[in-house]
Amino acid sequence: MGDYDAFAPIYDDWSAHMTEDVDFYVSLAAEARGPVVELAVGNGRVAVPIAERTGRRVIGIDSSRAMLDGARARAKAAGVELELRRGDMRDLEPDEPTDLVICPFRSLLHLPTWADKRRVFERVAASLRPGGRFAFNSFVLSPHRAAESDGQWHEQQGIRHHIAHFPADNRIDITLQDDTRVSLWWCTHSEWDGLLDVAGLEVEALYGWFDRRPFDDESRELVYIARKPS
Ligand SMILES: C[S@@+](CC[C@H](N)C(=O)[O-])C[C@H]1O[C@@H](n2cnc3c(N)ncnc32)[C@H](O)[C@@H]1O
Repeated sequence: MGDYDAFAPIYDDWSAHMTEDVDFYVSLAAEARGPVVELAVGNGRVAVPIAERTGRRVIGIDSSRAMLDGARARAKAAGVELELRRGDMRDLEPDEPTDLVICPFRSLLHLPTWADKRRVFERVAASLRPGGRFAFNSFVLSPHRAAESDGQWHEQQGIRHHIAHFPADNRIDITLQDDTRVSLWWCTHSEWDGLLDVAGLEVEALYGWFDRRPFDDESRELVYIARKPS
């Protein structure tokens, strides 16, 4: 646990380009009746607007102490309360059934194996009340863009980082100049569907972006709303 601590100081800048998901997740929270759980809540980038704009109880789980410190500061500045818990999303066990579990910004990709991801999906299914929803998003891995980015240094919001693809492990390593590294293990469309299937969740909607455009052959993002059958 805690691998992300070294990423925390630059996370605000790193995530600054990702804004269009916030309204999407806030709208789902507004439709939920009970508490909302965010897996891998990070610095509260999504959780704080949910609490501010819906008044819902928000429980945020993250394995990084430094990221949770960021969420605490952000909530305080916004004048809202978040229930922040340090833990691993694989061990999700909320104290009461929930209406909505979310996992924004591709955070499920930090789980290395199919078994890790399946465990999270099964824990989510066990946590939801019948009819409850699980919403998450992930990028579509494009071999063209992977070939362009592989082995190169890039800049995002002024942050220099190196990208390396390891197709045999369906993994991307992102390394900062100070050698801080995070890894992402991507999944295909059918693998996400398979994870939902084995966990007993149904696909309510699959979008190609947060504006709810349909998912199609040109889509670069998989935006899922899954549902536990009533
Ligand atoms: C890309 S950030 C996402 C943060 C936030 N949800 C957002 O949308 O900005 C990924 C987060 O996943 C957390 N994380 C990685 N593996 C985790 C795990 N197994 N359990 C809980 N949190 C984890 C990291 O600490 C980090 O805060």
